Amino acid sequence: MSYVAAIDQGTTSTRCIVFDRQGTIVALAQKEHKQIYPQPGWVEHDPEEIWKNTLEVIALARIKAKLHANDIQAIGITNQRETTVVWNRKTGKPYYNALVWQDTRTGELVNSFSATGGQDRFRAQTGLPLATYFSGLKLRWLLDNVAGLRADAERGDALFGTMDTFVTWNLTGGPQGGLHITDVTNASRTQLMNLRTLDWDDDLLRDFNIPRAMLPTIRSSSEVFGMVASEVMPGVPVAGILGDQHAALVGQTCFEPGQAKNTYGTGCFLLLNTGTELRESTCGLLTTVAYKFGNEPVNYALEGSVAITGALVQWLRDNLGMIKNSGDVETLAKTVDDNGGAYFVPAFSGLYAPYWKANARGVVAGLTRFVNKGHIARAVLEATAYQTYDVVRAMEQDAGIELSSLRVDGGMTLNNLLMQFQADILDVPVVRPTITETTALGAAYAAGLAVGYWKNTDDLCRNWGVSKTYQPNLDEPTRARLLRGWSKAVERSFDWED
Ligand code: G3P
Repeated sequence: MSYVAAIDQGTTSTRCIVFDRQGTIVALAQKEHKQIYPQPGWVEHDPEEIWKNTLEVIALARIKAKLHANDIQAIGITNQRETTVVWNRKTGKPYYNALVWQDTRTGELVNSFSATGGQDRFRAQTGLPLATYFSGLKLRWLLDNVAGLRADAERGDALFGTMDTFVTWNLTGGPQGGLHITDVTNASRTQLMNLRTLDWDDDLLRDFNIPRAMLPTIRSSSEVFGMVASEVMPGVPVAGILGDQHAALVGQTCFEPGQAKNTYGTGCFLLLNTGTELRESTCGLLTTVAYKFGNEPVNYALEGSVAITGALVQWLRDNLGMIKNSGDVETLAKTVDDNGGAYFVPAFSGLYAPYWKANARGVVAGLTRFVNKGHIARAVLEATAYQTYDVVRAMEQDAGIELSSLRVDGGMTLNNLLMQFQADILDVPVVRPTITETTALGAAYAAGLAVGYWKNTDDLCRNWGVSKTYQPNLDEPTRARLLRGWSKAVERSFDWED
């Protein structure tokens, strides 16, 4: 038998999933890593813990499916995007913990960069506004704050990477000749790559004051990059790399311009394929690379990124202890008929699309003595659907299209109450495919295409099927009333931090 494996290095865990030709899961192993919060707004990961977990999940997946290394035709890598790590080329040791995409410590840098030219100063080249979200300013913070790092970076001894780069470098040999590469999708989230040339942009590097010597080589998303050197899967070609949201777009087989998917994970990320055409957003969305398969032309996407969705459910579990397991939120929310007038705006990392308010902070609005735990659980789930609604409206304006249905994936799509409410509030059907592990699947697809395991994208489209469609079923006055409440609550979250 022959299979393709994917490593999904996500925000809360690392997984290895092995797929067969039909896209069916043959083995899955997963390990969570520590979330480190040194102070409010700061979020870090230990890169060495993540690398250790990566090796463990690969080994575990192999054991579960009783696989030999030569049963695996290729391996693809997908990852939490923007999270920034810098390590030493000779020792492999990180200089500092990884700065996670949700981390807001670069807020002051955002303000000082925006002071000349405004928040959209680099939008034309990068498709991105200045925000704490992207890697460029995180890297700048590390260069400014870690003693000796800048000198090492200029000498080429300190290497920068997003998590795909860090995992690939280690997997292909580490200090003994590991590949220092990234793919176009991950590079497009650093704010250092020019969307048209698909290369690091000298003007941006000068403005951000980043030494070119520390940057990885930008490659396509699907080609044979090199072989696994580690004994967990020796000699297997590493042949796919995609940021996780781009991977989900590929896993959902959204290859036609106009096709969109929304992934419900830690955050929510809605991507619309705009084909080879690069669309600039005027409504608060991002322009990003969708994917690039080998030498084929690049495909672009418009993206609506929402920072906190599933993470709010985890917060309810871990910080408030209101539920024991994440899945319990649905049971609790079902104890009531509606939100009881309560709205939860989870602006924990500011608000991302379409608002881009770094200084917004979370609020719960509309409380009365009537509101109980059930209503709060409901408001928590509804927050995900409202934030998606805001992004969809912006997407429709930017792209000039009206969404007729929404393809969804990710862990939260198993929550029926949320999916039904999503259809209700959007007033379009929400479609969940048979394979919801689309992120890992997309990385496997990219790797499998490169080695000929799948011939072309038609092969992939044949694997896509519908598991469940949620039809909208909410009267218009109620929908309008709920949306009014949400929009008032969102405004209350603005300008909290000075
Ligand atoms: O941009 C951040 C995104 O890539 C994180 O995705 O699924 O790890 O929360 P996830």
